[in-house]
Amino acid sequence: MQATMKNEITSAQAMQLEDKYGAHNYHPLPVVLTRGEGVYVWDVDGKRYYDFLSAYSALNQGHCHPKLIKAMVDQAQTLALTSRAFYNDQLGVYEKYITHYFGYDKVLPMNTGAEAVETALKLCRRWAYDKKGVASNQAKIVVCEGNFHGRTTTIVSFSTDPDSNKNFGPYTPGFVTIPYNDVNALEQALQDTTVAGFLVEPIQGEAGVKVPDEGYLKKCYDLCKKHNVLFIADEVQTGLARTGRMLACDYEDVKPDMLILGKALSGGIYPVSAVLTNDEVMLCIKPGEHGSTYGGNPIAAKVAIAALEILKEEHLERNAYHLGNILRTELKKLQAQTDIISVVRGKGLLNAIVIKPKNNKTAWDVCLALRDNGLLAKPTHGDIIRFAPPLVMTEDQLLDCVDIIKKTILAF
Ligand SMILES: Cc1ncc(COP(=O)(O)O)c(C=O)c1O
Repeated sequence: MQATMKNEITSAQAMQLEDKYGAHNYHPLPVVLTRGEGVYVWDVDGKRYYDFLSAYSALNQGHCHPKLIKAMVDQAQTLALTSRAFYNDQLGVYEKYITHYFGYDKVLPMNTGAEAVETALKLCRRWAYDKKGVASNQAKIVVCEGNFHGRTTTIVSFSTDPDSNKNFGPYTPGFVTIPYNDVNALEQALQDTTVAGFLVEPIQGEAGVKVPDEGYLKKCYDLCKKHNVLFIADEVQTGLARTGRMLACDYEDVKPDMLILGKALSGGIYPVSAVLTNDEVMLCIKPGEHGSTYGGNPIAAKVAIAALEILKEEHLERNAYHLGNILRTELKKLQAQTDIISVVRGKGLLNAIVIKPKNNKTAWDVCLALRDNGLLAKPTHGDIIRFAPPLVMTEDQLLDCVDIIKKTILAF
């Protein structure tokens, strides 16, 4: 394959390099990207695609949003990192902005989603000892089967996915696993007075966009209140307008005791994550007891404000809600025309289809064919394909994507 004028590397060379020198901890779709703008990405040969994954919902604001790039470049040229050994002139401004935005007393800034989850787990345990009166080091946190909260040793300790946790033990104790979308199971688990928190994804994204029954979150929240247990929402993937509301919990008027955000908090240009909660919980952690060298750095602060402003300025919640309804309607019509789609599900622009293998063709083959037709999506758990484009997509662009999906699926 010929390298283009612009690129010094062919796609075959780029893939060989990653294969030879990089860890084999991912199985990427064979396409080598070199540029992104809005809802589009281009490969090294100049072919354009719709991005229908959005870096697992980090790119809600689209690729290389000019406002984000400007915030990042301006701040990078001024002051990039101080560490938290000193104050900087951006962090407090951001902390005020994000706490007012979501209605919490305080924020603890981190970088990746997994770090923010770890932070929430530590805050929850500390709150259990300092406020709830659980005996030292006895606190438990309830989690759900099928969860995905990241890749740290503690987080994979309570994963139920063998790919995530097999032979990474010994595992961190202190977690109780219950089925997802099962209020009675939570009620039973909460009989144990050492339970301090319930950690839940409002929709299980990595598990394949599993949407719980309506009312599930509210019932769980009420049970947590009854038993003096913290309701901790991991909205790293579902948050920030992705599901058609600013937070997926907003659908049920639930305000989590602790809110975990990441991914789109920077619009895909920088790792920025956060835990938001009120003083009763946040002030349990004292100086020196938790932190991160990069967490709360001036670039992150500036970029996160811009990322949050874009969500409101461009009405991305409303757009995700509207386009999501169109997408699911069209996918359900397509489902009626073919026997290879067994399920269509989702909320807003976080959606998935389940592929019934046919003639040895799987979800992976469907994604390869989608790629050839100009749309990038990725299978998860073998037979599920997530459809989660940037939220800056227009209706015309979405309908164009629907045409690509229809043409591709009907060819199987
Ligand atoms: C719900 C949820 N929590 C946490 C994470 C981990 O985020 P990160 O990959 O930034 O560590 C993810 C990543 O997909 C996620 O979907």
